[in-house]
Amino acid sequence: MEKIVILTGAGISAESGLGTFRDEGGLWAQHRIEDVATPEGFARNPAVVHKFYNARRVQAAQAQPNPAHIALTHLQRNWPGEVIIVTQNVDGLHEAAGSENVIHMHGTLAGALCTTCDHRWVAPPEMSVGEPCPACGGPTARPDVVWFGEMPYFMDLIYDHLANAAIFTSIGTSGQVYPAAAFVHEATMSGARTVELNLDPSSGASSFDQVILGPASETVPRWVQKLLRES
Ligand code: APR
Repeated sequence: MEKIVILTGAGISAESGLGTFRDEGGLWAQHRIEDVATPEGFARNPAVVHKFYNARRVQAAQAQPNPAHIALTHLQRNWPGEVIIVTQNVDGLHEAAGSENVIHMHGTLAGALCTTCDHRWVAPPEMSVGEPCPACGGPTARPDVVWFGEMPYFMDLIYDHLANAAIFTSIGTSGQVYPAAAFVHEATMSGARTVELNLDPSSGASSFDQVILGPASETVPRWVQKLLRES
């Protein structure tokens, strides 16, 4: 049965009250990427980075999945084939909505990573400089999220899924960050039908077979219902 691969970005969580990055007043209008989302920024001033992610971690813990997240869980449970969700988001809202086997290519706010021994553990709500690693005791823990200049996680697995996707759907991403922005080309080369659901056309909109504009909490449930009706 047809495999569906879905890529999600910050836009799917916007209606859960979590800010996006590049929309008007977004996170990158409030913070310098080089200060809070690069290894160099963390080395220079880890306290600033922890403060940025602590605020997002607390906010994400209080956020609720919206009808778009819930519709993707419904699709996973009712589609006769595999539904793979690859997310650029670190907010954990797909799992909160009941989705399974979500591939977190940019890591998660819930994760902590030791830069001394690479041990991973569940981060406390607020991380601070000198957070001791439970494995080696080193005082160099960081949020387990992927920063600019770092390789996203699970790329081989993601390309395997794209290679045999029948449908590739991109939801709530501006298509400005690679490698995710090129997934539509991989899917097209595999012969997949490609759909973009976004508030505004992304930078890559012209590469999709179909573009459905509107808020995800409205467009995603409608798209899922139509897909299941036609399956
Ligand atoms: N419904 C659907 N789409 C929406 C909504 C909404 N309610 N609100 C905003 N959008 C769309 C915007 O039109 C935009 O195209 O979501 C997209 C958000 O784009 P970005 O802010 O660039 O977020 P994203 O594409 O996820 O960024 C990718 O960049 O900074 C890095 O690591 C960060 O994972 C992030 C990556």
